[in-house]
Amino acid sequence: MALLRASALLALLCAAQLLPLAVALKPSSLKVDGQAVVDQLLHLATFSDHPNPAVTRILFTENDLAGRAYVKQLMAQAGLAIREDKMGNIYGTLPGADPAAAAVGTGSHCDAIPLAGAYDGTTGVIGGIAALKALRDAGFMPARPIEVVMFTSEEPTRFGLSCSGSRAMAGLLDAAYLDSRRDENGTSYLEAARAAGYGAASYEDMLQSARRTPEDLHAFVELHIEQGPLLEAEGRQIGVVTAIAAPAALRVRFSGDGGHAGAQLMPLRNDASLAAAELALFVEKAALGTGAIDTVATVGYWDISPKAVNSVPREALLEIDVRDIDGPRRDAVVASIMEEAARIAEKRRVRHSVDAINQDPPATCGADVVAAVQASTDELGYSSKRMVSRAYHDSLFMAQIAPTGMIFIPCRNGWSHRPDEFASPQDIARGVEVLALTLARLAGEGGAEPAAKTEL
Ligand code: GLV
Ligand code: MN
Ligand code: MN
Repeated sequence: MALLRASALLALLCAAQLLPLAVALKPSSLKVDGQAVVDQLLHLATFSDHPNPAVTRILFTENDLAGRAYVKQLMAQAGLAIREDKMGNIYGTLPGADPAAAAVGTGSHCDAIPLAGAYDGTTGVIGGIAALKALRDAGFMPARPIEVVMFTSEEPTRFGLSCSGSRAMAGLLDAAYLDSRRDENGTSYLEAARAAGYGAASYEDMLQSARRTPEDLHAFVELHIEQGPLLEAEGRQIGVVTAIAAPAALRVRFSGDGGHAGAQLMPLRNDASLAAAELALFVEKAALGTGAIDTVATVGYWDISPKAVNSVPREALLEIDVRDIDGPRRDAVVASIMEEAARIAEKRRVRHSVDAINQDPPATCGADVVAAVQASTDELGYSSKRMVSRAYHDSLFMAQIAPTGMIFIPCRNGWSHRPDEFASPQDIARGVEVLALTLARLAGEGGAEPAAKTEL
């Protein structure tokens, strides 16, 4: 017992420095069944608003709730202690030798944008559970608790705001702002969460319940499909992420006066849809105009009304996504889009408003977490590539609380956010093994527990 305490203390001392500890855990003792993880991913995919292979799972809908129940079932089967906060984040914890020590975290999201695939986010949740299960089955007792999180609402589909769960954890959401983000029926986050069984008394209560601090989170690492083509094209097995690009989202509304498509003469019109069309083309020009391959901008949502072939469009609503690994350069593009929206509105005699939904800074991964991912990858004998994440992830916000890193695995043709998204069982197994070893390194070793086999 005294020996166990001493080794736990030593591990904590090393882990306090976030040193990529050499753990006694042998990579060969980690048994990960990639096909079993895929089977679970494909079962989760059946909870979808569109028929598979498409996956659509929107926050707090019936399918999202069924998906959450399945994730909790997997956590329970892996022997993890489950808790939920009032935002809807779900945590499964593998206890550490020192239960009071700040935890090492992993996880990702299970919501899916309309007509997406089965692997985005889900691989990091179900793969995270599989990593903790592999550690447990190998008899590894961490010094620190290790937790896997299913973050709530990483995708912005329902309330227009991405990463709501991790923003709340990082203390970057305030009550009034969250309340202002309504879904298309005018429902608030609080109402939707309550209807889903997450009974917060108020937004303050909800946000407070999700808040994490450096005192309770030591480090974080997320497993995710690459969502780009580089690993596959270069034949590398693991992406060691060093930074996450800065995302921004704008909602622009143009309003004209509409009218009869036959009777309203061209010089008298103020067509909101044409203002939107001009702005959409400008968005492309602005991104290309930086001359940097890392600047990307997309108009992924476009709605006009009243949507009648014989009516001049009266309203146009655009949602614009702008990203770059260089924050100031991204901000300059966002500013130019806002200025152009005002110029177009004036020229076309339409009214307009711009809602800056989010404009987040990029994240640099923690050097010691990157080193732990790299050391684990090397120890397992997998090839790797240092890379930047161009997609955003909950890790962007976890990096505001604790040193954070990401592990990427290849996905077919780099496809993501589409039904034919695919990662092979072998690549998934490799990612889960690297994750498990990285978590062991970051958590430190608290002593050996007799190997306890958990059910699949
Ligand atoms: C996440 O889904 C993103 O859009 O990067
Ligand atoms: Mn996504
Ligand atoms: Mn994702």
